[in-house]
Amino acid sequence: MRKWNFSAGPAAIPEEVLQEAQSEMLQWKDSGMSVMEMSHRSSEYTDIANKARQDLIDLLKIPSDYQVLFLQGGATLQFSMVPMNFGVKGVADYVLSGSWSKKAINEASKIVDTNVVCTSEPSNFNYVPKETSWNCSENAAYLHYVANETIQGNALHIPPKTNAPLISDMSSVILSEPIDISRFSLIYAGAQKNIGPAGLTICIIKNDFLKTASVELPGMLQYVKHADADSMFNTPPTFAWYLSGKVFAWLKNKGGLDAIGEINKLKAKKLYDFIDNSDFYLNPVNKENRSIMNVPFLLKKPDLDTEFLFEAENAGLLNLKGHRSVGGMRASIYNAIPIEAIDALINFMGDFQSKYG
Ligand SMILES: Cc1ncc(COP(=O)(O)O)c(C=O)c1O
Repeated sequence: MRKWNFSAGPAAIPEEVLQEAQSEMLQWKDSGMSVMEMSHRSSEYTDIANKARQDLIDLLKIPSDYQVLFLQGGATLQFSMVPMNFGVKGVADYVLSGSWSKKAINEASKIVDTNVVCTSEPSNFNYVPKETSWNCSENAAYLHYVANETIQGNALHIPPKTNAPLISDMSSVILSEPIDISRFSLIYAGAQKNIGPAGLTICIIKNDFLKTASVELPGMLQYVKHADADSMFNTPPTFAWYLSGKVFAWLKNKGGLDAIGEINKLKAKKLYDFIDNSDFYLNPVNKENRSIMNVPFLLKKPDLDTEFLFEAENAGLLNLKGHRSVGGMRASIYNAIPIEAIDALINFMGDFQSKYG
């Protein structure tokens, strides 16, 4: 029996998508083979890949002067590819709002001069510093921020205003609500949350910005090479791309990002309201920076953590353990998590509180 999976990633995938993939597992249409067995250069696979890309463009309303790349190496490789391609000429500005920003900065610091424009580290990243307090460089090569910090559960809900090219790691928030792509020079996201299986990284780059990318790097590290080859510079993660295409089609069927955005807001509000109204659970993040995708919470009696996780699992609620670096609990409530799962979680949390509170 499938259970509610609150994993931060790899995360839940819509059941309809899995069923469809199952029905096509042995043979895709009348091709005589599984998608996994197809050449990435075959006409069948090119159709699958192009449809997925187009559906993503439609969902995010990506303007025509952007490239949409399907890459590998996870968001982690983007931490290096971004400064390698765009940072060589000067200082790169970074917002430090959580563990993933910190990793991005660590990698970038090996390649370029980085300027950390603000940090909430002294208060365990429980907020994102206000834009007015940021100490930005005059001529930054770019400004980088993590739109949603998956571990701490904080988010910057509105893209910052800047004259520098704006770059965002949207791994844990992409496709959860509409975004204005035109504000960005580059967006990247690992797939294993709202997009599809691990192994695929989406990168959306504005053409003007792409023109400034390095063409001296090894081919695999050049955005230009990937763009010129339609993301087929080498063999792409074909099955992950195909399955992500199914997730995009599923989202379109659900009414796109406006519709899923409303559902996501409702899901998050229900859970935060329950936590805030309880004297047993606690969410440490500033209200205006709370993530709608990752909801960390602490038990006011932390000695009950192990029992909480044990009983949750028995109740069919999986992967609620917080990241090992912060402890406590975390419910990741990406697109594939329906409102029924939130209700089941809240019911369980209420019962647990009655038993031990
Ligand atoms: C916001 C964010 N950035 C980067 C990463 C790293 O992604 P990957 O493991 O795909 O390299 C993660 C992974 O969870 C993440 O949540």
